[in-house]
Amino acid sequence: MNVEKLVVIGQGYVGLPLAVRAVEAGLDVVGLDVDADRVKRLATGESFVEDVTAARLGRALATGRYHPTTEYVDAEGFDICVITVPTPLRDGTPDLSFVEQAGAGIGPYVRRGTTVVLESTTYPGTTDELLRPLLESASGLRSPGDFHLGYSPERIDPGNPTWRLENTPKVVSGLDEAALHRVDGFYRRLVEQTVPVDSTRVAELTKLIENTFRQVNIALINELTVLSHQLDIDVWQAIEAADTKPFGFMSFRPGPGVGGHCLPIDPCYLSWQVRRKLGRQFRFIELANDINHAMPEHVAHRVMTGLNRGGRSISDARVLLLGLAYKKNTGDLRDSPAVDVARQLRLLGAQVYAVEPYAEPHHLPDGVQVVPLTEAEVRRADAVVVVTDHDAFDYDMVARHARYVFDTRSRCQVGPTVELL
Ligand SMILES: NC(=O)c1ccc[n+]([C@@H]2O[C@H](COP(=O)([O-])OP(=O)(O)OC[C@H]3O[C@@H](n4cnc5c(N)ncnc54)[C@H](O)[C@@H]3O)[C@@H](O)[C@H]2O)c1
Repeated sequence: MNVEKLVVIGQGYVGLPLAVRAVEAGLDVVGLDVDADRVKRLATGESFVEDVTAARLGRALATGRYHPTTEYVDAEGFDICVITVPTPLRDGTPDLSFVEQAGAGIGPYVRRGTTVVLESTTYPGTTDELLRPLLESASGLRSPGDFHLGYSPERIDPGNPTWRLENTPKVVSGLDEAALHRVDGFYRRLVEQTVPVDSTRVAELTKLIENTFRQVNIALINELTVLSHQLDIDVWQAIEAADTKPFGFMSFRPGPGVGGHCLPIDPCYLSWQVRRKLGRQFRFIELANDINHAMPEHVAHRVMTGLNRGGRSISDARVLLLGLAYKKNTGDLRDSPAVDVARQLRLLGAQVYAVEPYAEPHHLPDGVQVVPLTEAEVRRADAVVVVTDHDAFDYDMVARHARYVFDTRSRCQVGPTVELL
């Protein structure tokens, strides 16, 4: 297949790496985004996604084959379009308005033989039941038949240097055999391995299985951690010991909760659909959500108790949080449990300071002052809380100089002043 013009709708964490990879593979790429500021910055070579360095973006722009734009009219004459817009929850209900807007925007440019792929995470049935009718009515064409439509879940893991877009197997699907063939052929140009499945619904469910599996297992370990603390057993050592079993066990680690655009949201797409279509609860998901949501409050209370033990009240205590991002080595604060930990500590009366080298200043939470990680800041704090375990932090220095460390990630050497979650 000879796809020449690609349109990627949404130039965020998913869309930008895809667009740049496609330029590297020789395609002519339109990077479409409604955020004019983002597009302007991309056009000048400024990347806000860790996985795409400014140098790499600069090389893509220098080919003359990467065109960031806010205008749908620039999609004119496209061969393939990939939709990577957000799919958030609104009051616990899937909000597909961005997918609808993207479908309505690209629909008029769909021609006979073109291919459209949805990558946004969503409930099974979205491609067929929501996107297909939109594209059909906007284009006056039909799929299957006139144009090809498919779904391919994104597996991007921001900040992971080992597993990148090109070496992570990519699940691909189409509404029919012809669409699958097109979608598969396109991604084979970008990634080392594709995994074709029989239907768009299977591909949509694949993504939800992956994230639900993680969300449920993290919740299991988090609940075990809370209970083990009360039983006075070192859960971290038990997990490490269990992890020596060469089969039948997969290690998940405790933490201050789950965050980002995936784990707190994607499983809810599945439980929402099960409720809507079957009138039943997806109990594992609901339970896991409850447990993970309660973790920031648990962390704040453990910090309060730790301060009390040292004869210090949390009221007006100076608490230094290490990391605010939901995930290490990234600056992504979306739904970060660290932000909730900060809020809970402030509710208890603490003055909250944070070290967050990666986040953009305008994304930082209210009432939290950002400071650099220095010996003086560590000494000044009544408590230091390791929330996001960025590799750049000097944990030895922190453990040496802090009066009290509450470590939710087990990064500091355990000692008399260090307490683990
Ligand atoms: N970030 C991840 O690690 C990750 C991993 C796997 C899957 N996903 C899924 O991929 C999808 C995109 O996530 P993301 O993290 O890239 O989001 P993002 O917010 O980083 O980027 C989405 C971009 O889409 C733009 N946009 C919104 N509506 C638009 C429209 N109608 N036309 C053009 N552009 C529009 C936004 O301005 C934004 O720049 C979501 O469904 C998410 O669940 C994300």
